[in-house]
Amino acid sequence: MSITVTPSGQACGAQVLGLDLSKPLTTGEVADIKKAWAEHHVLSFPDQQLTDDDLERFTQYFGKLGDDPFLRPIEGRRYIAAIARFADETSPIFAESWHSDWSFKARPPIGTCLLGVTIPPKGGDTLFANQHLAYERMPESLQRRVEKLTAVHSAVLAYSPDGLYGKPDPGVKSAMQPIISDEARKTQTHPLVITHPVNGRKAIFGCMGYTIGIEGMDEVAAEELLRELHAWQTKEECVYRHQWQPNMLIMWDNRSVLHAATGGFEGYDRLLHRTTIWP
Ligand code: SIN
Repeated sequence: MSITVTPSGQACGAQVLGLDLSKPLTTGEVADIKKAWAEHHVLSFPDQQLTDDDLERFTQYFGKLGDDPFLRPIEGRRYIAAIARFADETSPIFAESWHSDWSFKARPPIGTCLLGVTIPPKGGDTLFANQHLAYERMPESLQRRVEKLTAVHSAVLAYSPDGLYGKPDPGVKSAMQPIISDEARKTQTHPLVITHPVNGRKAIFGCMGYTIGIEGMDEVAAEELLRELHAWQTKEECVYRHQWQPNMLIMWDNRSVLHAATGGFEGYDRLLHRTTIWP
């Protein structure tokens, strides 16, 4: 089957037609998807009727399945997490800050797959910021300042007992029940600028939130630099707004984009099944 790849017309993202992902793919089809993925960084596959087995099989064409560090898997599965929110929920939107998934791991997941199970009729878009464009469009002087730096990543601000998700309001019910642990305090370093191994383009890797410092810089200077970078990383011109449809699967490349969830679907349940693609 030959595939049709239609770019979103925004900073990244493309829609892929011509595949039935409920069936095993040929080597040629996988190669076509990989090529489109390296070019567009976020791919969406509409009109797919997929089971959790299909989601896991699809994920494994691109890397290994792996455990999510701070999300419990859904019942009966080891590698699938639910991104869920109740219609009447008032807790903060989960994953609303820009991030690259689990960037605080020594070898973070190269990508993520997200399958729409219950998609609200409005809102709940996922935003993606193209980090190749962000790097390429920043002033040369800033590129030079950051290109040799090493960033310190950690989940402390999110999943430690003092983190964002560490003290849920007991009076507010939440569909997301992340694992809160002192493990989240661990740190891991990565270059602040990486070169993508497939498309060869440079990108800023990581973002305020999971990036908590810069090696060799004091806290204040590091935070100032991270804030300056953040403004470039999330500029409107670098952003693709993904609008969901029922029965849609998307995959994104964590080495090329940051992503962020959005709200705007009060009164409707939202449920997606997620796998991460590990190197
Ligand atoms: C995520 O970060 O995996 C969640 C994205 C979303 O809910 O749109």
